[in-house]
Amino acid sequence: MSARKDGGPMELGESIRNPGFKEAGDGGSASSVSGSERRRSSAVKLDADAQEYTQVKPYAGMPKEVLLLHSSKARYRVPREILFWLIVCCTLALVAVTITIIAMSPPCLRWWQISPVYQVYPRSFRDSDGDGVGDLKGIKEKLDHFLDLNIKAVWISPFYRSPMKDFGYDVEDFRDIDPLFGNMKDFEELLAEMHNKGLRLIMDFIPNHTSDRHRWFNLSRTRDPHYEDYYVWTDCDPASPKPNNWVSIFGNSSWTYDEVRGQCYLHQFLKEQPDLNVRNPDVVQEIKDLIIFWLEKGVDGFRMDAVKHMLEAAHLRDEPQVDPDLPPELVTTEWDLYHDYTTSQVGLHDMLREFRAEMDTYSREPGRYRFMVTESYDYEEVEKTMMYYGTPLVKESDFPFNFYLLDLPHNTSGWWAKHLVDLWMSNMPRGQWPNWVVGNHDRSRIGSSAGRIYVRAINLMLLTLPGTPTTYYGEEIGMENINITQSEVQDPAGKYNVSLSRDPERSPMQWNDEMNAGFNSITNITWLPVHPDYEKVNVEAQMQDEGSVLSQYRFLNALRQSELPFLRGWFCYVLADTDVFSYLRELDGHKEAYLVVINFGKASTTTDLSAIQELPEQLRVLMSTNPANDGKVFQKSRVQTEPGEGVVIRYSTYTRFHPSHPAECYVSEKACYLETIGILYKC
Ligand code: GLC
Ligand code: MG
Repeated sequence: MSARKDGGPMELGESIRNPGFKEAGDGGSASSVSGSERRRSSAVKLDADAQEYTQVKPYAGMPKEVLLLHSSKARYRVPREILFWLIVCCTLALVAVTITIIAMSPPCLRWWQISPVYQVYPRSFRDSDGDGVGDLKGIKEKLDHFLDLNIKAVWISPFYRSPMKDFGYDVEDFRDIDPLFGNMKDFEELLAEMHNKGLRLIMDFIPNHTSDRHRWFNLSRTRDPHYEDYYVWTDCDPASPKPNNWVSIFGNSSWTYDEVRGQCYLHQFLKEQPDLNVRNPDVVQEIKDLIIFWLEKGVDGFRMDAVKHMLEAAHLRDEPQVDPDLPPELVTTEWDLYHDYTTSQVGLHDMLREFRAEMDTYSREPGRYRFMVTESYDYEEVEKTMMYYGTPLVKESDFPFNFYLLDLPHNTSGWWAKHLVDLWMSNMPRGQWPNWVVGNHDRSRIGSSAGRIYVRAINLMLLTLPGTPTTYYGEEIGMENINITQSEVQDPAGKYNVSLSRDPERSPMQWNDEMNAGFNSITNITWLPVHPDYEKVNVEAQMQDEGSVLSQYRFLNALRQSELPFLRGWFCYVLADTDVFSYLRELDGHKEAYLVVINFGKASTTTDLSAIQELPEQLRVLMSTNPANDGKVFQKSRVQTEPGEGVVIRYSTYTRFHPSHPAECYVSEKACYLETIGILYKC
């Protein structure tokens, strides 16, 4: 009050000097207001006469002195300090929980682990322009088929520019698209559309050979200094051009005399597919440049073709004959020799690891992992195949293709199926990811070789085993081989010997029951005949039928991707006999587990599983390849199956099978499930 008087009559303008108001208005700090001014303003506030002004002026808050006076009192200070420490502790706890969750979580699965890989043979998938041969635009038209199947990874066999002696596996220009399939714009549009739909594109890459029409080969045969050693050349007698006894995979000598250069060149496949000399560092660099070219275009991975043939022994000695008594002139097929000098030579894996390293530099962006799968048939020399996984320190392919199930038709029985599965599982290096192939463009369709009755059971096994399934186009609807007569043969391998022709498994995809099964809707031309069963066996018809091969494929693939025991869980053998192969999938902490029973035999059978204590007494069929048996309940001592029938049984228990049967069980990456909060953790 006295202050008011001391300061003289108050002017309206003085109210602006209210420190709180001024601070905000000026953006200045409280300290910029002088001490006397502050005192004067507080005095103004205390002055009763100033009431009329405080009504209209903004409230400036408690002066600092008063504030300090109250705030140091225990009843304000203590809660404040408690709050402060609470916040600090909560923040620390949150950070600790986050770190623990990250450390405890098993690594996320990658796209090529979650989705099956679907192989498209581009000549046969969908012909958009009516020339009788499938093309890239055709594939683009059919992308929704993959989405319907819940498939995200699509491998397309070669579509580079090629004289088509081996239907694209003889490449004339690795940087161009063959006009039969389209052009670079078509490719880019296809890739963009695939990525839009969340699909990944795996390209085929052929590092072992080129076409004899490739520019490099022309420069090499004319001895251009840079290209002279791009291929494997050696002196030979033009009259008998066989510098050694090596044979081509397609039959006869793997050497051909070239008149231009006056030397022989090596070809492990057709004479129109000369082998590159990958001992020449320039050639390796060329391959890397090509890999980079396609990675930059955005492709998501490569299937590396015929890798075991990449290197040959430099000494060019004869390979040992399987039958030493066979006259050398009768040594004409790959089965006549042990391939000690033409396959799996030292240095091969180093080279593939270099390619892998290039791919890894393009895998760093989140969600852009580039995948590599290698193709190599080992005929049960399994340790050779396993080397393609690389080592724990040096990565190679994500997996080498597992072709063992292609041998299932040799002996359809439960124990044979188990033998083939176990060949992979018991030899795969620890922590690696398995995969399964039941057909491709080089092997008879399994429905034809094993028999139609096993088609559904084979798909069921493919989709319930641990690891990545590979599906060759048409397997999802149970397509079978076509019959090919000598005059119809298209495949060069079949021209040597019609029984070796790969045409039967390359017939046009069966989309519907219209002209050409919907493969080509413009003209009546198809490069190979359509299978006569297309009116029934086609995508459109099977989409509408809940019990079809296609619907079962979709169901099983959805189950595989939604139920953690299939992607993350243990795989354990339960039983294998003449007829039945049975295994289970379980995950620690996950109440639901799955039992699979497949009858690969020739007779109906009743399987007694009562010795398996971990299984409940009653087993309810979640899904059978015979839809009439869906929902059926079996006593575990009497599980009945027909030949070719496979059943998936879901049961609930927390008693796990794997702890008491460690020798029967495998898991790639151990994980447990915490049901209360629905998370996986390392255990
Ligand atoms: C691979 C392909 C096959 C081709 C061969 C030569 O084995 O799968 O189709 O003929 O390599 O490139
Ligand atoms: Mg080679």
